[in-house]
Amino acid sequence: MGSRIVSSGSYLPARCLTNADLEKVVDTSDEWIVRRTGIRTRYHLAEGEEPAVMGIEAGKRALAQSDASPESVDLLIAATNFPDMICPGSAPFIAAGLGFDQTPFFDLKAGCSGFVYGLAVADGLISSGMYKRVLLIGHEALSRVTDWSDRKTCVLFGDGAGAVLLEPAPAGTGVLGSALYGDNSKAFLLHLPAGGTKSPASHSTVDERGHYLRMEGAGVFRSAVPMMERATRGALVAASLTLADVDWLIPHQANLRIIDSLIKRLKFDRERVVVNLDRVANTSTASIPIALDEALRQGRIVAGSVVVLTAFGAGATYGAVVIRT
Ligand code: ACO
Repeated sequence: MGSRIVSSGSYLPARCLTNADLEKVVDTSDEWIVRRTGIRTRYHLAEGEEPAVMGIEAGKRALAQSDASPESVDLLIAATNFPDMICPGSAPFIAAGLGFDQTPFFDLKAGCSGFVYGLAVADGLISSGMYKRVLLIGHEALSRVTDWSDRKTCVLFGDGAGAVLLEPAPAGTGVLGSALYGDNSKAFLLHLPAGGTKSPASHSTVDERGHYLRMEGAGVFRSAVPMMERATRGALVAASLTLADVDWLIPHQANLRIIDSLIKRLKFDRERVVVNLDRVANTSTASIPIALDEALRQGRIVAGSVVVLTAFGAGATYGAVVIRT
């Protein structure tokens, strides 16, 4: 027995920020952002808006699409790097908003690869017979941890959520193979130094801006391409497929230049790569499920398509999953 994605949903906050809006906040330009990243707009939560709302809405849309009732879901996995609260995370708030009652839930933190990791975990749990219906949500409120005085990072991120519902399916029909990796030597390429137990919140952590995301951009860039190439090839081996069998590639939406370099290395057709970062920017764990949901709803990805989902992120984690839709 294996598992397959039976429905999906996504959600973006209402507030859209253009590059011109960011020009008013930091010393940057639309020309620089588009040329270096491909990003034109991003969506951010409004002040005071609850981050869990994004995961709740995405989850509701996935459930509505398959007519699954909240009571019929056996497990909720909420993948995120920046939960509503360090404790108890985000999952309980999302579960409450979805009307779950005693359904188990947990947060999954695996950098921007969180959705891909979550998909492999959900598939394993369903394949083992432990659970039947698993709702997997990737959600991220990056605007809340963005340093608005750092032009190197603040232009890159957006908020959002994407969800998929997984059910048992005959092996070889839905999730076809996966490959997960972690390079712990790169743990500091992308990190948020304070607020955890190593460096709890204090006046000095606030003064040092330690509660914002820090990134070594060039290092991330150099690592991202070989990581996603290795993961894509590894997952295809696990699925006993080759690149020639792949209809669509959905890479983590971090930077158009990273995606272009990946496609070049894989020698993959640009027309069959899903890209929405120009509109939604980098939404971390939410980026792949939002892109997948949009492509499914647009009818670009159709039933029976072979799709590779691949990501890299903080940790450094990376991985890929091959699915048949
Ligand atoms: N506007 C204008 N100029 C800028 C900006 C900006 N927003 N940001 C940086 N610059 C300047 C720099 O100050 C630097 O100027 P200098 O030469 O006078 O010092 C110049 O542009 C070049 O800076 P670099 O950092 O070398 O620019 P680079 O071409 O590497 O692009 C970028 C930076 C876009 C961050 C790139 O390194 C990148 O995309 N890295 C990967 C980022 C990524 O994928 N992050 C997410 C991964 S994890 C996750 O998804 C949460």
